[in-house]
Amino acid sequence: MDLSKSIPISKELNPNKRMHWTLILRASDTWCYTAKINHFKKGHAMNTNVTTSTLAKMKKDNVKITAMTAYDSPFAKMFDESGIDMILVGDSLGMVIQGGSSTLHVTMDEMLYHTKIVSRACKRAMVIGDMPFLSYQVSVEEAVKNAGRFLKEAGATAVKLEGGASVCDRIKAIATSGIPVQAHIGLTPQSVHQMGGFKVQRDEERLMNDAKAVQEAGAFSVVLEGIPSSIAKAITQALIIPTIGIGAGVDCDGQILVMHDMLGINSGHIPKFVKKYAHLGDEARKGIKTFISEVQSGAFPGSEHCY
Ligand code: KIV
Repeated sequence: MDLSKSIPISKELNPNKRMHWTLILRASDTWCYTAKINHFKKGHAMNTNVTTSTLAKMKKDNVKITAMTAYDSPFAKMFDESGIDMILVGDSLGMVIQGGSSTLHVTMDEMLYHTKIVSRACKRAMVIGDMPFLSYQVSVEEAVKNAGRFLKEAGATAVKLEGGASVCDRIKAIATSGIPVQAHIGLTPQSVHQMGGFKVQRDEERLMNDAKAVQEAGAFSVVLEGIPSSIAKAITQALIIPTIGIGAGVDCDGQILVMHDMLGINSGHIPKFVKKYAHLGDEARKGIKTFISEVQSGAFPGSEHCY
């Protein structure tokens, strides 16, 4: 049920600023505020839904944007409640969830399934659905149709697609259909074979042209992946839209990491740009081994676990 009405501006939020609040009664029974704020300062409210305007304002105010990938409900809820601004349901799920060696095999149905469960879990963060390989490359019409499915069927707020100047007709058509589009340039994993592997991209002129082209086409933001920090800095300064970096240095407007990498869930090769903020894989393995040995020895279940 949606209930919209204006409410008085609270004391904490400067009453001199004109603000309009829309109250939405969520099915979950918690009240959540969608703020349409005409003017606000740094220190963006935690219970404010993140929109394209929020992100534009964050760039203007020099407030860093935080983003992570998520693919399921418990982690999406954890990230959302922790205050992440943006959650990307990345086609990286083809590697970190499905165990593939690339993202090329991921289908629209798989992306919609994961995007739907992530969207359901989030109250504040912007949820972005990643358009998989061949869901937007074949024609502009298919691109718009598939982008729309992320909003209509999976509850996403926006979509992401890979490519620069070559996909600008897709970006323009999707954006003019009312669907926010995030672009993704530099190391674009769907072009792994064309790039000859997952390689850092260093052609500054091409990267700058791609960045300006996607902005011109109507992208609200652009992911910069696997490019030298100096080029990412120059692009970030040249654009009005926020840049979100992954392996692109500290000067981007925001940072994104794949959750399995930064939480230490999967073992194996970890790229140089990843920092591990937790070691969940080690913890899980420890727990699993203890369970096995306790079942084998008869220590589990104890009397406290029995009826
Ligand atoms: O699919 C993905 O997770 C991504 C991020 C690495 C930006 O595209």
